[in-house]
Formats: sequence, structure tokens, C-alpha cells
Amino acid sequence: MYFCSMSEPKRYTITAALPYANGPLHIGHLAGAYIAADIYARYLRLQGKDVIFVCGSDEHGAAITIKAKKENTTPKEIVDKYHAIIRKSFEDFGISFDIYHRTSEPVHYETSQEFFRILNDKNAFEVIESEQYFDEEAKQFLADRYIIGTCPKCGNENAYGDQCEKCGSSLNPTDLINPKSTISGSAPVLKKTKHWFLKLDEQQEGIKKWLEETSEKNNWKAHVIGQCKSWINDGLRPRAMTRDLDWGIPVPPEIDGSEGKVLYVWLDAPIGYISATKQLFKEKANNKTEFSYNHRDFGNVNEEDWKKYWKINNDENDKTELIHFIGKDNIVFHCITFPAILKATEQYILPDNVPANEFMNLEGDKISTSRNWAVWLHEYLQDFPGREDELRYTLIANMPENKDSEFTWQDFQNRVNSELGNNLGNFVKRVSDLLHKFYDGVVPEYYGSQTTEFDADAIMNIQSIKTEYENSIDSYRFKDALFKCMEISSLGNKYLQDTEPWKVIKVDINRVAQIMNIAVSFVDVLSDLLKPLLPKTSKKIDNIFNIVVNNGYQFIPSGTKINQSQILFPKIEDEQVQAQIEKLNKSKAQQAQQISPVVEMTNALQPAKPEITYDDFSKLDIRTGKIIEAEKVPKADKLLKLLVDIGIEQRTIVSGIAEHFSPEEIVGKEVSVLINLAPRKLRGIESNGMILMAEDANGKLYFVNADGVSAGNIIK
Ligand code: 2FM
Ligand code: ZN
Repeated sequence: MYFCSMSEPKRYTITAALPYANGPLHIGHLAGAYIAADIYARYLRLQGKDVIFVCGSDEHGAAITIKAKKENTTPKEIVDKYHAIIRKSFEDFGISFDIYHRTSEPVHYETSQEFFRILNDKNAFEVIESEQYFDEEAKQFLADRYIIGTCPKCGNENAYGDQCEKCGSSLNPTDLINPKSTISGSAPVLKKTKHWFLKLDEQQEGIKKWLEETSEKNNWKAHVIGQCKSWINDGLRPRAMTRDLDWGIPVPPEIDGSEGKVLYVWLDAPIGYISATKQLFKEKANNKTEFSYNHRDFGNVNEEDWKKYWKINNDENDKTELIHFIGKDNIVFHCITFPAILKATEQYILPDNVPANEFMNLEGDKISTSRNWAVWLHEYLQDFPGREDELRYTLIANMPENKDSEFTWQDFQNRVNSELGNNLGNFVKRVSDLLHKFYDGVVPEYYGSQTTEFDADAIMNIQSIKTEYENSIDSYRFKDALFKCMEISSLGNKYLQDTEPWKVIKVDINRVAQIMNIAVSFVDVLSDLLKPLLPKTSKKIDNIFNIVVNNGYQFIPSGTKINQSQILFPKIEDEQVQAQIEKLNKSKAQQAQQISPVVEMTNALQPAKPEITYDDFSKLDIRTGKIIEAEKVPKADKLLKLLVDIGIEQRTIVSGIAEHFSPEEIVGKEVSVLINLAPRKLRGIESNGMILMAEDANGKLYFVNADGVSAGNIIK
């Protein structure tokens, strides 16, 4: 048995995963964590709850240094650039953080180092000398992300040292088969180094008990509990909390052996929630807004008030509820590692819920930054300016709350045109148009209180929908809450259809006034319930109907002058959808070059591949050739079927170059051909060899040829 407090929390600390500042945001980010967190924060604020909603950029870790290397610049430049881009996207999409902070800020360095000291003093660490991968060419220890190799679980040859993105397994670098350094391409060697390991093994029982009790009491999502159980059942092991890197927060210098060591990014990032809160109260106490916003009135606060949102307090009537919104790849860090850190301090509260979402796929494929398979938020807004809520609606409607979901442009178009346009937008406009037609745009008074069956049904339905809506949001079922709003506008449309005010107006003007007041109350409830979900749309409705808000309640009283409604959701045209699909297909084409039989000459930024011997090279039979015939492969945008003269014979070769060359322009081209590559079937055609290509930094392809040499000569 466990003690269960009956009192409501006094305040809420809502966090959303700090995104890595190494690239712009895409729809997967919004659907994974930020929209859910924003809905919840807005909902609680509307109920007058004391809420803080904090986030910021995660600016450390190998993800940043890798990006800097790729872009030939410094990590600092990368984080400055992407912090600004990310912050802007969050603002554009109305994610209502109270603060959007950065982990490169001094307050975060101080807070993280302070945590390290506390953990060290509390004996939560053990210093372990272990062997870690070291790149002898680059002369540095390799962060997990700098090592790729074959995943021992699924065979993916490009798994990272910390995770296989194909099967989702969490890995240690030493688990990889044939590990390679991504810096130099060489095979790394194991070298001894000392690190501070969090003694998770000693916390196994405590974390297990806390997880079981909290997840049951607060009804955690099954997939989150499932992941936690699997970690616990495997047995928690000590986990290194420091790294040998030159980018990160230094281990406090007074600690022996700290030189050259920085905090592991997954130690400092979640502490970022706390430092963001400190900064928030610092700014509010001093009436500043460097990183913070004004989404609610904090009243008179002082800098120390951040503690109320994070520190343990034994007063049952003064509790703070902590909720972390994250994507499923962050579950272990928020449900095990960070709670273990917080618990070890004996000062901080632990999360009450971690309603993680699963992943959103895009047009049948995993969203991938490196493959440019994504809908980038800034690009969306260039293509669909002012249409933030249409995307927000589609992402909520497909939110991966309990299983992976899918975004397709076709679905986006259908939802905008039929659900938003024909249902919601149509209802709001209809009510406004009727009021203008009958009453010059003023909500009429009516006399008498007799109601018809239609009225009674409508009013009862609205009540039950409201209750279901609240239950949905309280239990993090945002998709359901959205559909409850849509039920209201469907009911509103049906109510008008059933009561036919345009006919009744000829016989009973008082009845029409009554009908229109009920219709207006539908609009009122609709805009109220939409506030957390589609804030921009709700605001538009409030502006059309001049909705009055008083003490947290909103009204459209008789006598209110309302405005003409514009079309809230203009149609998404087929051409717009087509253009987006074509944009994605271009990314696919570039990806296809990598998997289809085209050898790319590496450009200078790519690390050299591991060394081979002359014997290895001599196995390749490369010859000069000439393209005799070329034609498109039906239903394959990227493939050309070629007939190539290689001197000894004519070969059929299927090549993934169709998006770079037309068949006509390459007939007669001199090429180089790898002729002893094992045959491979592509779209049912057997390909017998590979045409060698060079690719420049812009992705343009060139044939590799030996000027003027006739077909069939050996290249060696
Ligand atoms: O996965 C990520 O994008 C991480 N940057 C999330 C960090 S969440 C937190 F702990 F700050
Ligand atoms: Zn794998």
C-alpha cells in the first residue's frame, strides 16, 4: 500500500524536452512533445492553475559537435544559429513557454555544476576506470555518436554507439560489431580513461518502487511503463556521467581528476529545466524578459521562488506536480536516469507523469533529418503562411499518443478542407452570417423559456461533450479532446439544420432569436474548448463574436455586436499538396543515389573509408564502357535501364540516375563500369554491373570516364 494524497497539487511544473540546437524543427518535434505540452499548459492556465511551462535549447553533446564538423564551423556558431531558428518556430506555432532558455547560459553551468557537487558529496558516483574508444588518428576519445558500426540486435550497419536508429535499441559503443570512428573513418582502439558513474545499480530498488507506485497512481501510459519495466528487469547498471570532450560543462574544477572532463549531455540537459526555472524567476522578479514571455501574470515574485516548483516540500497542501513531455526515445532518461539524479540529491521532487508520445512518420517513412525526409516548420510557414492551426490540427488529429502515427499531405488536405473547412469553419461562419442576415449582426434578445426537443438535446449534448473533453485532457488524450470540439461544431451544424431558422423567420421571430442564442452558445463553448488546442483559431472566433471574458468565464450576451466572419480555413488546393509531395520526392531521389547502384566519389567533407589492401582493390574489375541504349524504368522515378558496351559484351545495367539525366542525353556517353558486381534485381530487371559516378557537394552527378578511350579497356 502507498499513501495517496487527496489534495490537489498547488502548482504545476511542465517541461518539454530541450531540443538539440543542431538543426531546425520539423513536424515530428511538434507532434512528439511540444503541442501536447502546450495544450496541457494552456488548459491548466485557463483553469486558473499556477503553472510554469519551461523549455530551452540543448546545446551540448556530440550531436552539436558533429553538426559543427559537417558545416565546417564551431559548436558555438551552430548553437547560436539553431537556437534562434528553433525559438522562432516555437513562437510562430504559438508554443506558450513561460521561458525558452539555453543550456549555454551561466545560470545553467552553475546549476549543473552544483548538481554534480551534490551528487559527489552524497556519494552517488563511483569513479571507474574503463576502456573507451579512442581515435588514434584524430587523437581523441570518441563520444558514442562518433562511433558507428553494426547493431548486434538487428544487423543495421550504421548504428550509433549509443543507439540503433533502425531497431531503437539502446547500445554501448562496445556492443557494436566492426566499430568505426566517424571522424577519421579508422577503427578505434580501446584506451583507459576515468569517469564518474552514477550508481544506478544501487538505486534499482528505490527507482523500481517509485516507478511502480507513481505510474499506478497517475495512470501512466502503457508504452511508457513497458519501457521502464524492461530497463528495470534488465537490471540498472552504473552509467557514466562525464565525458572526455572539449564541448560541454566542465566537471567542477576543485574535484580531483576533473581536468579535460565535461558533464555527459544527458546529465546537464534535464537540469536545464531547473536552470530555466531559475532564470524565469530571476527575470520575473526583475521585470525583464530576456528569455521569458508573458503568458501569465506571475504577480510579485522573488528570485528564490523557483524552488517552489522543484524542491521537496512536506506540506501536503503545498504540492507541485512535475510533468515531463517528451518523445519515446527520451523515456529512459526521464523515467530512470533523471529521477535517480533528483532522488539522490534528497532535495528535489520527482516527476508525477511522463506522458511520452511515440513517433510520427511521414508519407510512409521515418522522419529523418539526415535524409531530409521531414516537413520543416519554417518551410511549412513559407509555403502556407498564416496557417499554423491547420498544421496543428492535423498533428493533433494524428498525434502518436500510444503508437507511431503518420502524416501525409493528402490527409492534411482532407482534414483542412472537410473537417476544419466544412465542419468547424462553416459552422462559425453560418452563425455569423445568419445573425447579420436577421439581426444586423447583433445577438438578439428573446422572450419566454419554452424549449423544444432539439434545444434540450443540444444543451444536454454540449454538457456531456464538455465533461468528456475535460476527462480527455486530464488524462493526456489530446486527440480525443480535439474530436470533442469537432463534435460540438457538427452538433451546431445539425442544430441549425434541424431548427431551420431561415424558414421559421417567416412565422416566429422570437423563436428564431432563441435558436440563434443557442447557436451562439455553441460558438461560445467551441471557442472556449478550442483555446488550448487551436489557440489562433479560437482567438479568431473570439474576435468575430466579440467574446467577453470575465473571471475566467466567457460569454456572448444578447446585444453583442458581432463581426462578419471571414472564411476561417480556405481550401488547400491539389497543386499545393502535389508541390509538397514533389519536394519530398526530391529528397527520396537523393537518398536513392546512395542505395542504387551508383558509386559516389566522396566529397572532401566525408571521412575516408577504412584502409583496404591492394588485394582488396584488385578484386574490382572496372572497365571503360559506352552507353548504347537508355530508357526509363516504368514506375521508378530514379531508375534508368541502360545497355552498355563493355568491350567483351553488352550488359544491361540499371542505374539510379534518372533524376539527373534524361535517357536521350546519355546515349553514346563513355563511362566506367564495375563489371564484376554480383547481379541484382531492381524493379524486376537484372542489373549486371555498376556505372561509376562522381558527386559534387551540391549533389550533382558526373560520369567518370577516361577521355576518348574505347569501350572495354581495363581501369587499374
Ligand atoms: O533528444 C533530444 O532532442 C534531447 N536534446 C532531449 C533532451 S530533453 C532534456 F532532458 F532536456
Ligand atoms: Zn538495431
